[in-house]
Parts: sequence; structure tokens; C-alpha cells
Amino acid sequence: MIDFHVLAKEYSTPLYVYDFNYMSRQFEALKEAFKGRKSILAYAVKANSNLSVVKHFAQMGSGADCVSIGEVRRALMCGIPAYRIIFSGVGKQDHEIREALESDILYINLESDAEMQRVEMIARELNITARISVRVNPNIDAKTHPYISTGLHSSKFGVDLNSAKRMYIRAKNSQYLEPVGIHFHIGSQLTELDPIREAAEIVADLVRSLSALKINLKFFDVGGGLGVRYKNETTIEPYEYAQAILSTLTALDMTIICEPGRFLTANAGYFLTKVLYEKQNGDKRFVMVDGAMNDLIRPSLYEAYHHVNTLDKEGEKTLADIVGPVCESGDFLAKDYALPMMQHNDLLVFESAGAYGFGMGSNYNTRGRSAEVALEDGKARLIRRRESFDDIIANEREFLEANE
Ligand code: LLP
Repeated sequence: MIDFHVLAKEYSTPLYVYDFNYMSRQFEALKEAFKGRKSILAYAVKANSNLSVVKHFAQMGSGADCVSIGEVRRALMCGIPAYRIIFSGVGKQDHEIREALESDILYINLESDAEMQRVEMIARELNITARISVRVNPNIDAKTHPYISTGLHSSKFGVDLNSAKRMYIRAKNSQYLEPVGIHFHIGSQLTELDPIREAAEIVADLVRSLSALKINLKFFDVGGGLGVRYKNETTIEPYEYAQAILSTLTALDMTIICEPGRFLTANAGYFLTKVLYEKQNGDKRFVMVDGAMNDLIRPSLYEAYHHVNTLDKEGEKTLADIVGPVCESGDFLAKDYALPMMQHNDLLVFESAGAYGFGMGSNYNTRGRSAEVALEDGKARLIRRRESFDDIIANEREFLEANE
């Protein structure tokens, strides 16, 4: 049992807390599901990019799926070997491509033909051969929230099958490109297996037709997306997930790459916030807390549900919106949530907050971002200090002084 009162007292609120032992168990479970095949779990750094979290996965043998050169740097800093790092994303800048090539990462995942031409050009300048994969958009409905669904042609991600094929042929004929992998990622928070299996089948067929053209790929990268339970979702078991993918790969000797983010960190994380006030606007009850959308934006952005633990607080429950101090009506952490009467300084714990929580935070309303704490083997330690006012204005201050 985690003593949230002690943590809130020691580190103050709003606060993120991550159970590192839980992360380890999730990592092991997924790794185990793919055993029997060569596989790399490439942690999707965007889910929670705190250096201590990335290092934790590095120590477990994880690779990294990165979507900016900043994330690549984080991964390298934390000891993830370059040969287990992948760089994806629809809009890579020249300097990012150059640095990724110079760092000799496993491969760059291409999301358009235009991007391939930039990579080829930069590789030629550096006089090296760039290892690449192509992100295929299999036009599959992942049946998840539209903002995190990526496998349909209406989304900006990847390229259609025919374009992918043309890109591979071009790459094979280029002295500066070496096609080594193929990638798809149809969405996040996936709770149905069929779309994943269908996508894997389509992509595996493409791999076969490429091999008929003597383009032999080594890495079958299935993206991330494995859903977790926030409320009462039925989730996919790692074993079933792995089997669905592996069943499409008969007669193909490829290393599986999987890019889990949420599965590894979401339910390891808690967001702690304290009650400031209660108020009633007509029939509507509001509980104002010290955390806000700048700390945890998922409820505002996706109407996401996070279970709220009121700890030892008792009493009759009525519905309330839990809202933060930010000046936006969209600033809420929960809507119509059944809560007992709350008092100043009562603690609320938002669960499942370890993925896309802190990382999507901002300084909106000049609010410093929360501190982050790791829990490991029963011990707590700070892994990011709370941002101060000076931190927030650090990049602006000199300009004010220069104009005085
Ligand atoms: N690989 C690629 C190429 C991705 O785009 C993503 C997530 C992942 C892997 C990791 O997916 P995961 O295993 O975490 O589902 N902010 C949203 C989620 C955005 C996901 C973006 N891409 C949220 O809070 O739900």
C-alpha cells in the first residue's frame, strides 16, 4: 500500500508518483509474451520521458521509440544502446535527421517519400548509408479515440501500401539508403485484437511481396498501442497480443519490435492533488483542486477518465466536477464524479496517470510543473523537482533586462 498522505506531505502537491516495480512487471510480462522469437521492446519515450523512468527501462534491456531528437538524446543519455533506438514521426527536421544518422541508431522510420529524399540527401552529405523503415498506413480502424487513432488514410501518419512499395524499391536502389524494417502503428489505447491482427496481416503480406523483389527486411515493427484499464475496459492480454501478431508471420524470420508506452507506465502512475475549495453554482457542485489541465490534460483533451481515490475520506457522495485553477472552462480533471464532501487540504489521487500525464504538461497560467517521485522497493525518491517561478521565466528574463 502506498502511503499517499506521507508522499503529499513530504513532496507537496500537485505531484506525480510512479511505481517503478509495477513498470518492471509490465515490461517482463510483455517481453515474456514474445519469447520464442527475437524481439526488442522499444519503450515509447513520449509516454513518460522522465530520465529516471527511461533509465529504469534501459536497465531492463529496453530499446526506445523516439519522436524527436530530444527523445533520442534522452534515450542515449540513459544508457539505451543506439542499436535499439528508432526514430519515428511525420515531421523530422534536417538537423534531427543528421544527428540521428550520426548517432548510428537502429533505423529512421520514414513517413513520406519526401522525407525519404531528405534522409537520402543528408546521408549522401555524411557519406553513410541510412538504415530505414517505412511506416505503413494499413487503412484500419483501430476503434479508439479519434485523436489517438492513426491507422486510417484520413490520419496524417504513414503511407499507403502502394507508396510504401515504391519507397522500398527506391531505397533498395539507392547507395545511401538501406531498408531494414517495416512499421505500423494503428493507434493507442487499443482494446480490440482484430484491428491489430488485420493490420499485421496486411503488413506481413507486403513484407512477402517485397521479399519476392529481393528486398529482405529484418525488423517487423508493430508499434505500440496496447490498451490499459482506466475504468472498466476489457484489455488485451500480452500473450494474446503477441500470438495475434506472430500468427501473421509464418515463414518470415524477422525480429519483432514492439513500442509500448502506456502499457508500461500508465497504471504505474498517480497524480496527487489537494482540495482548495468547494462551491455550488446553482445545482452544480465544483471541487477546486491545486492540480489543473496544465498538469494532467487528458480529461480536457480526450474526455479521458481517471479513477479518483479519495483515500480514507468518508460520507455521502454527490456528483461534482473536479476543476483546477486554470482560467479555462475546459480545465477539469473529472466531470460528474461522485465524491463525499471535501475539506480544504483533503487529498485526491488520480490513478492511471503514469502515461501522457506529466509529459503533456505545460506552464500555462505561469504554473510550475509538478514534482515527480519514484517508488521502488518501498522507498520514495525525487526524480524531478517542482518547477519554480525562476525556472519558468529563465528563457525570458535576459530579454527584459537587456531592454532596461
Ligand atoms: N509508437 C508510435 C509510432 C506511436 O505514435 C505511439 C503513440 C506509440 C508507439 C506508443 O503508444 P502506446 O503504447 O503508449 O499506446 N496522448 C495520448 C496518446 C498518444 C499516443 C501517441 N502515439 C493519450 O494521452 O492517450
